[in-house]
Amino acid sequence: MAERAATGGAQRPRGEQPGEDHAGNGELAPNRVAEVGSGPPPEDTIIELRDLHKSFGDLNVLNGASLAVEKGTSAVVMGGSGAGKSVLLKHIVKLLTPDHGEPWVKGKRVDEMTGDELDDLRLSIGYLFQGGALFDSMSVEENMNFFLNRHTDLSEGERTDRIEETLSWVNLADTAPKFPAELSGGQQKRIGLARAIILQPEILLYDEPTTGLDPVSVRTVSELIVRLRDERGISSVAITHDLLCADIIADRAHFIYEGEIIESGSLEALERSNHPVLRNFFGS
Ligand SMILES: Nc1ncnc2c1ncn2[C@@H]1O[C@H](COP(=O)(O)OP(=O)(O)OP(=O)(O)O)[C@@H](O)[C@H]1O
Ligand SMILES: [Mg+2]
Repeated sequence: MAERAATGGAQRPRGEQPGEDHAGNGELAPNRVAEVGSGPPPEDTIIELRDLHKSFGDLNVLNGASLAVEKGTSAVVMGGSGAGKSVLLKHIVKLLTPDHGEPWVKGKRVDEMTGDELDDLRLSIGYLFQGGALFDSMSVEENMNFFLNRHTDLSEGERTDRIEETLSWVNLADTAPKFPAELSGGQQKRIGLARAIILQPEILLYDEPTTGLDPVSVRTVSELIVRLRDERGISSVAITHDLLCADIIADRAHFIYEGEIIESGSLEALERSNHPVLRNFFGS
């Protein structure tokens, strides 16, 4: 375990930006996650992962990973390749279930959900997959329509309006008739984002939203993620290696190593951490 600053409530209050007067600015702030077995987290905690353990055969991937996300905020998870970041994210929508520990979302245990309850939860969570997850054989509009058709009762006119509105939102209204292969990498990420938000989710999970993009596109996609938080109150967890993206979107950053969250706090605090693994990661 790394040495941690004695923070005593240094967690940045909601909405407050880091500022020179704020005593807690830049300090590490340990996760405030309740014990397994202590019941639902407080109402303003939208996601709480408690002591998650997960192995595949002999491979221990999660080893007591814990983190909490406050409603309306963006959490960022960073860490080396193979550290268990994607595995952690998949527990939030029960694509994986833990061997031990509790994933709580919106006051309920996700690992215990089944049937309609699980379907409803998944519909309230947008998942931006690394590859964008669009069908190559369908145009952008057909991709969106397929998704709406499957998951909503909207009429054809309502679907058209929703698609138009969502594509405009990511500033790509003119791409509706195009096929994914005709779009640049940055446009594909934005279309992936449009698909993730078209069902108007409360929570968004981003797995490497900006990997492979040039700095201008990184900024565009990251700023869209910030607007989703600010204009729609969407809570999110983003996995990223990208410091520019993390810098733009993170209200709180977490570093995962050997299946455990070893540091949490502001991104600046993580960058200044004396932990050798973080120093190596951030090249400091
Ligand atoms: N379904 C699975 N079955 C078996 N092993 C798995 C499964 N999913 C993940 N793993 C293994 O768990 C480890 C962590 O995988 P994970 O995808 O979470 O890494 P990551 O931190 O997201 O890495 P990257 O930054 O490269 O995406 C890897 O060794 C991976 O091979
Ligand atoms: Mg991954």
